[in-house]
Amino acid sequence: MSAAGPGRLAVPAVRGLSPYIPGKPIAELERELGIHDIIKLASNENPYGPSPKVRAAIQRAIEDVWLYPDGSCYELKQALAQHLNVDPVCITVGNGSNDLLMLLAEAFLNADTHAVHSQYGFAIYPLVIRETGARAIEVPALGADSAMPLGHDLDAMLTAITPQTRLVYLANPNNPTGTWADSAALQSFIERAGADTPDTLIVLDEAYLEYGRQRGTQDAIGWLAQHPNLVITRTFSKAYGLAGARIGYAVSHPDVAEVLNRVRPPFNVNSLAQVAAIAALADQAYMHQVTAETMRELTRVEARIRQLGIWIAPSATNFVLARFGVPAAQVYQQLLRQGVIVRPLAAAGLPDALRISVGTPAQNERLLEALPGVLKALRAPHA
Ligand SMILES: Cc1ncc(COP(=O)(O)O)c(C=O)c1O
Repeated sequence: MSAAGPGRLAVPAVRGLSPYIPGKPIAELERELGIHDIIKLASNENPYGPSPKVRAAIQRAIEDVWLYPDGSCYELKQALAQHLNVDPVCITVGNGSNDLLMLLAEAFLNADTHAVHSQYGFAIYPLVIRETGARAIEVPALGADSAMPLGHDLDAMLTAITPQTRLVYLANPNNPTGTWADSAALQSFIERAGADTPDTLIVLDEAYLEYGRQRGTQDAIGWLAQHPNLVITRTFSKAYGLAGARIGYAVSHPDVAEVLNRVRPPFNVNSLAQVAAIAALADQAYMHQVTAETMRELTRVEARIRQLGIWIAPSATNFVLARFGVPAAQVYQQLLRQGVIVRPLAAAGLPDALRISVGTPAQNERLLEALPGVLKALRAPHA
């Protein structure tokens, strides 16, 4: 933004923001280096894509794409309500779960309020908080000697809540660390927050829950009935392989859903995404199969990376956070040259770390074969 250009007219809270940096797209690397056969392990997508039944449903729905979508997402809410065993009035559907994280900030925050998030939490949280003018309170993560290094310090997050705090954003499992909270500790956190700070909503982001379940991450939907200040967000972008369709949802007290419905753009979820999500929910067998395959691969990738003497954080997700002990920018650049895109984490305050998504076995093999050579080149004394 130039100092004299019209961008200077943006409100101060927005002028102070730095944009979110997504994973490098394959086409961009092709243009930059003129190479092909690139693999992207940078945005935690599901490399198997959606179920064949979802692809067929999207094909059929293309016929009606000239019509506006159902702004209320009626059929999808019915399907979700049945799947989750909740009332449809508790559900809000968004253009990805990112949309819901933003709508929550828009509806519950302003310059007089605070919102709490964790160090190494999802990078979007401070952005959506600060754009409302609210104060983002970052709570230091657990230390390297903790049982869950880099994970959320739930006790400290609770202590950070002030009378002005309207929202706490908390991902379980978390991105970019992959870490997760112990079920009993999380339940106690939700209970204490509900009892001691009833004017604060706890936004529990379960974007990776379908993977996390396989390593013991708690599904919190059952707690909603007892905790009116709990809001759970989920997505079809990861386990259901629909990142490009942009669809996610929140489950909350009906009052919160009603408030979100006021700030939601009338047609925030497109018709193809709605049809795709309904078909995806109906094919649980496919979702279980691809997430189980990814978690098997996660175990293999973790073991092979550890064998190289690289530290990795505990993960209950479809990615690993690897710390190299030296600035990781060079590892990132060298992997790019070999057509492997991963995610640098300097902007998240971890300049020695890379986040690596788990791909198909063949994609993972590309990464695992490239890494030793890259590390050897970096460790070799320069001529
Ligand atoms: C923790 C977490 N929450 C939310 C999202 C947003 O996902 P989407 O907007 O695709 O639903 C992501 C995406 O990477 C994520 O990692």
